[in-house]
Amino acid sequence: MFSFVSFVLIFALASRAFAFNVTVNNRNLTTTQILNIPDSVVKTACATKCTNASQLIQSCNDDTACLCRADTVSALLQCEQCMFNKLVEVNKPMDFRVGSQSVLSAYADACKATANITLAANQTALILPSTWDQSFIAVLPVGGAIVVVVTTTFLGMAAIFLLSNMYTAGE
Ligand SMILES: *[C@@H]1O[C@H](CO)[C@@H](O)[C@H](O)[C@H]1NC(C)=O
Ligand SMILES: *[C@@H]1O[C@H](CO)[C@@H](O)[C@H](O)[C@H]1NC(C)=O
Ligand SMILES: *[C@@H]1O[C@H](CO)[C@@H](O)[C@H](O)[C@H]1NC(C)=O
Ligand SMILES: *[C@@H]1O[C@H](CO)[C@@H](O)[C@H](O)[C@H]1NC(C)=O
Ligand SMILES: *[C@@H]1O[C@H](CO)[C@@H](O)[C@H](O)[C@H]1NC(C)=O
Repeated sequence: MFSFVSFVLIFALASRAFAFNVTVNNRNLTTTQILNIPDSVVKTACATKCTNASQLIQSCNDDTACLCRADTVSALLQCEQCMFNKLVEVNKPMDFRVGSQSVLSAYADACKATANITLAANQTALILPSTWDQSFIAVLPVGGAIVVVVTTTFLGMAAIFLLSNMYTAGE
């Protein structure tokens, strides 16, 4: 369990971006790529929120102050949270940007690094949907057993990172 927590921390640190390139799993995502997600049932379900987020991000035209403004970040969070909820419901591997805590964390890091704007934790934190239950983790390979032993304090965060990482690994 300790190594799992370390892994999560290392992953979070490794996601740090140095320019407003959102760096997730060694991939540099430009602002146009963050939400350029392949069509899926999840994307369709969250089209309204994600189109709104996409439009706000594009209209910032790479201006970091604009990208890191509360309403822009909020729109991105709403889009990712919607996709995360749907992802849990659908329970299938998806593109690594779908419902991704890693993308949100990397986005916050990019704001810090490029605009010196520190976003509040809750501005970029996904929360587990109420539909999340034990049956969901049953399909996880290897990691499922780890999640079960993680204390409830860490359960939410650990599961979110685990899901993000696992689906990315499946890419
Ligand atoms: C972002 O990453 C791309 C691809 O690696 C690179 O071409 C571009 O210069 C980077 N942008 C900044 C602002 O560092
Ligand atoms: C991403 O950008 C960083 C710094 O901007 C660079 O060091 C790294 O090589 C880039 N990675 C890729 C995969 O382009
Ligand atoms: C887009 O997102 C912003 C920020 O969350 C919100 O204020 C606005 O109402 C949204 N617009 C639509 C059309 O949903
Ligand atoms: C970043 O912002 C903080 C608080 O607003 C400020 O104290 C600090 O000097 C800034 N750092 C840089 C490098 O601009
Ligand atoms: C984040 O927390 C602050 C105070 O703790 C609260 O005022 C704000 O509404 C929260 N924002 C979100 C997006 O939940």
